[in-house]
Amino acid sequence: MNKLINFKIDGIQVEAQKGETILTVARKNGIYIPTMCYISKTTPCASCRMCVVEAKGVEGFILSCNTPPTEGIEITTHNDALENERTNIMKLYDVNHPLECGVCDKSGECDLQNKTLEFNVERQDFSARDQLRPLQHWGLIDYEPSLCILCEKCVHVCNEVIGDDAIEVKFGGYSSTIIPKNSDTLDCTFCGECIAVCPVGALTSSNFKYRANAWELNRVPATCAHCSAGCPLEYETRHSGVNGSDEIYRVKNNFEFASLCGAGRFGFDFDNKAKRDETAFNRAIEALKNAKAIRFSSMITNEEAHILELLREKLGIKLFNEDARKFAEFMRAYSTISGKLHHSATLDAIKQSDAAIIIGSRIATDNPGVRYALTTASKHNGAKILYAHPMEDVLMQNVTTQFMKYEVGTEEGVMALLAYAILKDSDLDNDERAFFDDLDLGYLYAETNIGEEELSFMMQSFARAKKRTLILGNDLIAHERSKNIAKLAALIEKYSDFSLIVIPREVNTLGVSLINSLDVDENISNVVGYNAKGDFIISSLGDGDLDIPALNQQEGTVVNIDNRVLPTNVALNFEGYSLNDIAQVFEIYKNNTVDYTKELNKNSGFKEIDFDDLENFLSPMGEDSRGYLLDEVICEVNGRIEEPDDLPEFNGTIVYHCDPVLQFNNYTNRTKQLPKENFLRGSAQFSVAAKISDGDLVEISFGSTKIQREFKLDNELKGTIALNPAFDIDVDASRYRFEKSKIVRVSNE
Ligand code: SF4
Ligand code: SF4
Ligand code: SF4
Ligand code: FES
Repeated sequence: MNKLINFKIDGIQVEAQKGETILTVARKNGIYIPTMCYISKTTPCASCRMCVVEAKGVEGFILSCNTPPTEGIEITTHNDALENERTNIMKLYDVNHPLECGVCDKSGECDLQNKTLEFNVERQDFSARDQLRPLQHWGLIDYEPSLCILCEKCVHVCNEVIGDDAIEVKFGGYSSTIIPKNSDTLDCTFCGECIAVCPVGALTSSNFKYRANAWELNRVPATCAHCSAGCPLEYETRHSGVNGSDEIYRVKNNFEFASLCGAGRFGFDFDNKAKRDETAFNRAIEALKNAKAIRFSSMITNEEAHILELLREKLGIKLFNEDARKFAEFMRAYSTISGKLHHSATLDAIKQSDAAIIIGSRIATDNPGVRYALTTASKHNGAKILYAHPMEDVLMQNVTTQFMKYEVGTEEGVMALLAYAILKDSDLDNDERAFFDDLDLGYLYAETNIGEEELSFMMQSFARAKKRTLILGNDLIAHERSKNIAKLAALIEKYSDFSLIVIPREVNTLGVSLINSLDVDENISNVVGYNAKGDFIISSLGDGDLDIPALNQQEGTVVNIDNRVLPTNVALNFEGYSLNDIAQVFEIYKNNTVDYTKELNKNSGFKEIDFDDLENFLSPMGEDSRGYLLDEVICEVNGRIEEPDDLPEFNGTIVYHCDPVLQFNNYTNRTKQLPKENFLRGSAQFSVAAKISDGDLVEISFGSTKIQREFKLDNELKGTIALNPAFDIDVDASRYRFEKSKIVRVSNE
């Protein structure tokens, strides 16, 4: 247990844990110290000096944001000398800061505005020669250097939380500015987090610019609808004209503690605009009466999933959802060894880790929330991060300490080798010991292409770690030997100090997997599609036979990667029918969809809590108080680990179905701001092997599926596997994502 440090702030006795600063202890105790450059989720920028305090017996001022307290020290946060110092700092900030508040996007929520008033800066004693500092257009982001106060928050967040490390300060005295790093223009993943943390109007969203003032917008707290990280955000809405309907103007986040990727921040306009269409509704009822199955996606709420389950029971039909079915199967296999239904780690546990293994995912694009948690672990704890995958990812290079390249298809063998390396000296039971004794290590090393020395290096670099996390991606869940892979992973969790997290592929894969009884998808007729393919399609994408609301038009809950049941709210009204209206026709009756929230499957850990009683905020110190955590469910331990099967070989032309940055699905694909870069991307080596060149239109065949794409040469890629985005096409992204394919050039227009 850490020894607490006792000291006083403004005469109040307080205590600090190891690693805390005077500022963090003051905040914890509700004592206000002004800051301009501080953000809770990064190391101190220490550029503004607003946080100065005095310490008894210490000469001069000290910075509270980067100074840890010492035993018995007495701190003063407010007196005339400190106020004078802070007022002068504000005057210096205000020198030549253009008085553009009337048109500035930040007006009404600007730290400079607020603190200029707080410190009563009524006159300016300083002056400086004005400089020409032209506005910079960086795609989704605009940078106005004349408004920049060089607090460096943007630089810290980009480097320490996001991991792009795409911007830096160009020092030049009074003409210092923020510039893109190693590039003329900004070349980054466009998360927009730098916009969020900017305390003034220097970094802004180019699309939002001059469209609305902060005080005109209504804020709707919600959960991001694009991936299973379930990031908290606020949709900011306003009517869009004199008689116009409401529109989402922008998305904001509690940037002190939480982060968003660019899909969450800029991909908000995926609402489904529809009126009540009675004819379509009646056709939907007829289609359901004749249906043999409903096929649905995991881009739905728990309450919708629950209604679908009630319809399944009532109509005696099947439910198809391969994404959630495979996830459920994986977790069931995991629980036969672990004895519990839910994985043990969370995004927060990844952030706290000092060692992590990530396997089976191109994580930076599969789940940016996990990527940011890994970046935080790397930058703040010096975490050792092993990235195991057949393809390197340039986006992970800033944080990866070891890249372990394995052969496509050999994930079962890789997991067996990892388990062997981690557990070979553990106190296992007889069966498990026998499993490792019988492993044909020579075969596994040869087929996976992993060297013994790579595993030794991993064990050495993890040797001193205290908090380790094993992160499992979709390539394992969708693998034909997924059950044995899940059991091997569970074994690592059971006998080592690794906590484990499995990445659900879609927003509510986890929730659906816990609510629905799913059958293996069959190619049969009379299937109703619910946000999925079918003979009659009920869809929130605006392209179906009956329209239903999208996730930003509904109240309800989803389960995120943390096993947390998160509420989301209506940002924009929907005027058509909902699944609840359909269910009512079949005498499955509740007034509102969220009346089902408290009836969600208790056997899977859901609690009997009304939707209206769910909290939806982060606490002032950043704890996640949204919704609730699923109860743990104890399961029977009866699993046996099998010897790895013959490992498959993937020869010839291979593509990996993997979406580009900022695209996840048909919903992100509908939004205006997110780029639709649906190119087949490959390395120079791939281009030579496939006999295609940059700009060629190619036809790709996988089995009976054929699609056409433009080929783009990507100098950041290596090796002979190309990346094929799946956000806009019919390729079933829930299957194993590496695929043998045939590629022919159609034209080079
Ligand atoms: S948008 Fe994100 S990645 Fe790009 S510079 Fe800003 S913080 Fe960095
Ligand atoms: S752009 Fe904004 S966040 Fe970045 S240094 Fe300037 S004022 Fe600070
Ligand atoms: S897409 Fe995922 S990581 Fe990005 S903001 Fe949404 S939930 Fe967070
Ligand atoms: S908050 Fe301490 S220097 Fe800015």
